Amino acid sequence: MAINRTSSHGEWSSRTAFILAATGSAVGLGNIWKFPYITGENGGGAFVIIYILCVIFIGIPIMLAEVYLGKRGRLNPIASIKYISDKEKRSKNWRIIGFMGILSGILILSYYAVIAGWTMAYSVRTAFGNLNNIDATGAAAMFESLVSDPERLLAWHTIFIIITAIVVAKGVKSGLESAVVRLMPALLVLLLALVIFSAIEGEFYDGLRFMLYPDFSQITWKSVLIAMGQAFFSLSLGMGALMVYGSYLSSDISIPQTCVIVALLDTTVALLAGLAIFPIVISSGLEMSQGPGLIFQTLTVAFASMPGGQLFGTIFFILLIFAAWTSSISLIEPMIIWLIEKYNVTRIKAATIATSFAWFLGIGTIVSFNIGKDIKIFNMTIFEMLDYLTSNILLPMGGILITIFVGWLISKEHIDSELKIKSKIIKLIWYFSARVIAPIAVIFVMLNALGFNINFFL
Ligand code: TRP
Repeated sequence: MAINRTSSHGEWSSRTAFILAATGSAVGLGNIWKFPYITGENGGGAFVIIYILCVIFIGIPIMLAEVYLGKRGRLNPIASIKYISDKEKRSKNWRIIGFMGILSGILILSYYAVIAGWTMAYSVRTAFGNLNNIDATGAAAMFESLVSDPERLLAWHTIFIIITAIVVAKGVKSGLESAVVRLMPALLVLLLALVIFSAIEGEFYDGLRFMLYPDFSQITWKSVLIAMGQAFFSLSLGMGALMVYGSYLSSDISIPQTCVIVALLDTTVALLAGLAIFPIVISSGLEMSQGPGLIFQTLTVAFASMPGGQLFGTIFFILLIFAAWTSSISLIEPMIIWLIEKYNVTRIKAATIATSFAWFLGIGTIVSFNIGKDIKIFNMTIFEMLDYLTSNILLPMGGILITIFVGWLISKEHIDSELKIKSKIIKLIWYFSARVIAPIAVIFVMLNALGFNINFFL
């Protein structure tokens, strides 16, 4: 039977509050900035299909497992896993999942804050009309002038880290719920409006075709790994963020339905972002595979030619800042809770230490777009390396360990009493996905993409 432990950090006021917070964590730059540009780099339709399959067969089962761990452990990720392994008489070394997660969160936040800084810079530029009447060449030059200036990037990065620090210092639940309730629907409406604009003004048919028509000749194992990594990244999986949010969940709530809703919302936002962006990329002659600058250049061209674009664009970028903000909070919350519980420091102190660390690491990403462009590790810039290491290695590895731990090493009746799945069939599907499909798929994709010859084993 589940023991009704509660978190010493309080509880969500309702199931909806949890859904909102988890959606706030999931929906962020990953959906609107990263999904379109990596889809552009990886050939479109086939990549999107693989991404969606990864969300369904790998993402959702792991999400359930992760929320389960938090809901049962009720502590920071390391201590929760240690508590559960004690109870289940398993090795306490499974705590490594928690350590890896805290590290991944900080590494991701370090570059996430830099990109969120670009969003802030763009909202100011749009508000002041700097982008009016700009064309594709102008938009490219404007983007280049921003990222080539390390001081400006550092200033925005610092501001973003400070606003993140302020919220986490106050405690995640106060404020977060109400912010998400108001801002998420607004972001969705604006995104829909953008899709409509793009349908009227852009090459909608070609954009849609690019995004939906599967051309599997474009796909390599590396792109499958990137799609899978994106599923982890976009759903905020593999690092303990949802474990911490799950630990604030009251014990009588059923997990699966909530997780499916979050995954559905997250995927909808990503697909809408793609639908808004690709038609404009094509109609304005921009490059599909240009990388991290894609949405900034595309959207500025769109806002420049749209009636009321200045106002609309400003609001859009501001909402994007908020989306990034609610995500960045969840990236750092595991480390904060860990510092508070383990070292008995105040929340303010924990927030200061954790965000300072992320701020400092962020300098690596800042210089990788300008003065440090030529610093290459495994042929990647510092930003590319951090992104690759976290999304494609650390998060999937965390995910494998989580599903193996939950799927195989925890007694069934405990899982059943926490997950509260009523339907027998769904229960069966979940066990099969968490025990077999998800771990095997992740291991298979990682081995292939990292260059091991799978044929050797077959
Ligand atoms: N999911 C967020 C996005 O799409 C980023 C994010 C927040 C995240 N918390 C996370 C990614 C935890 C991985 C793990 O923008």
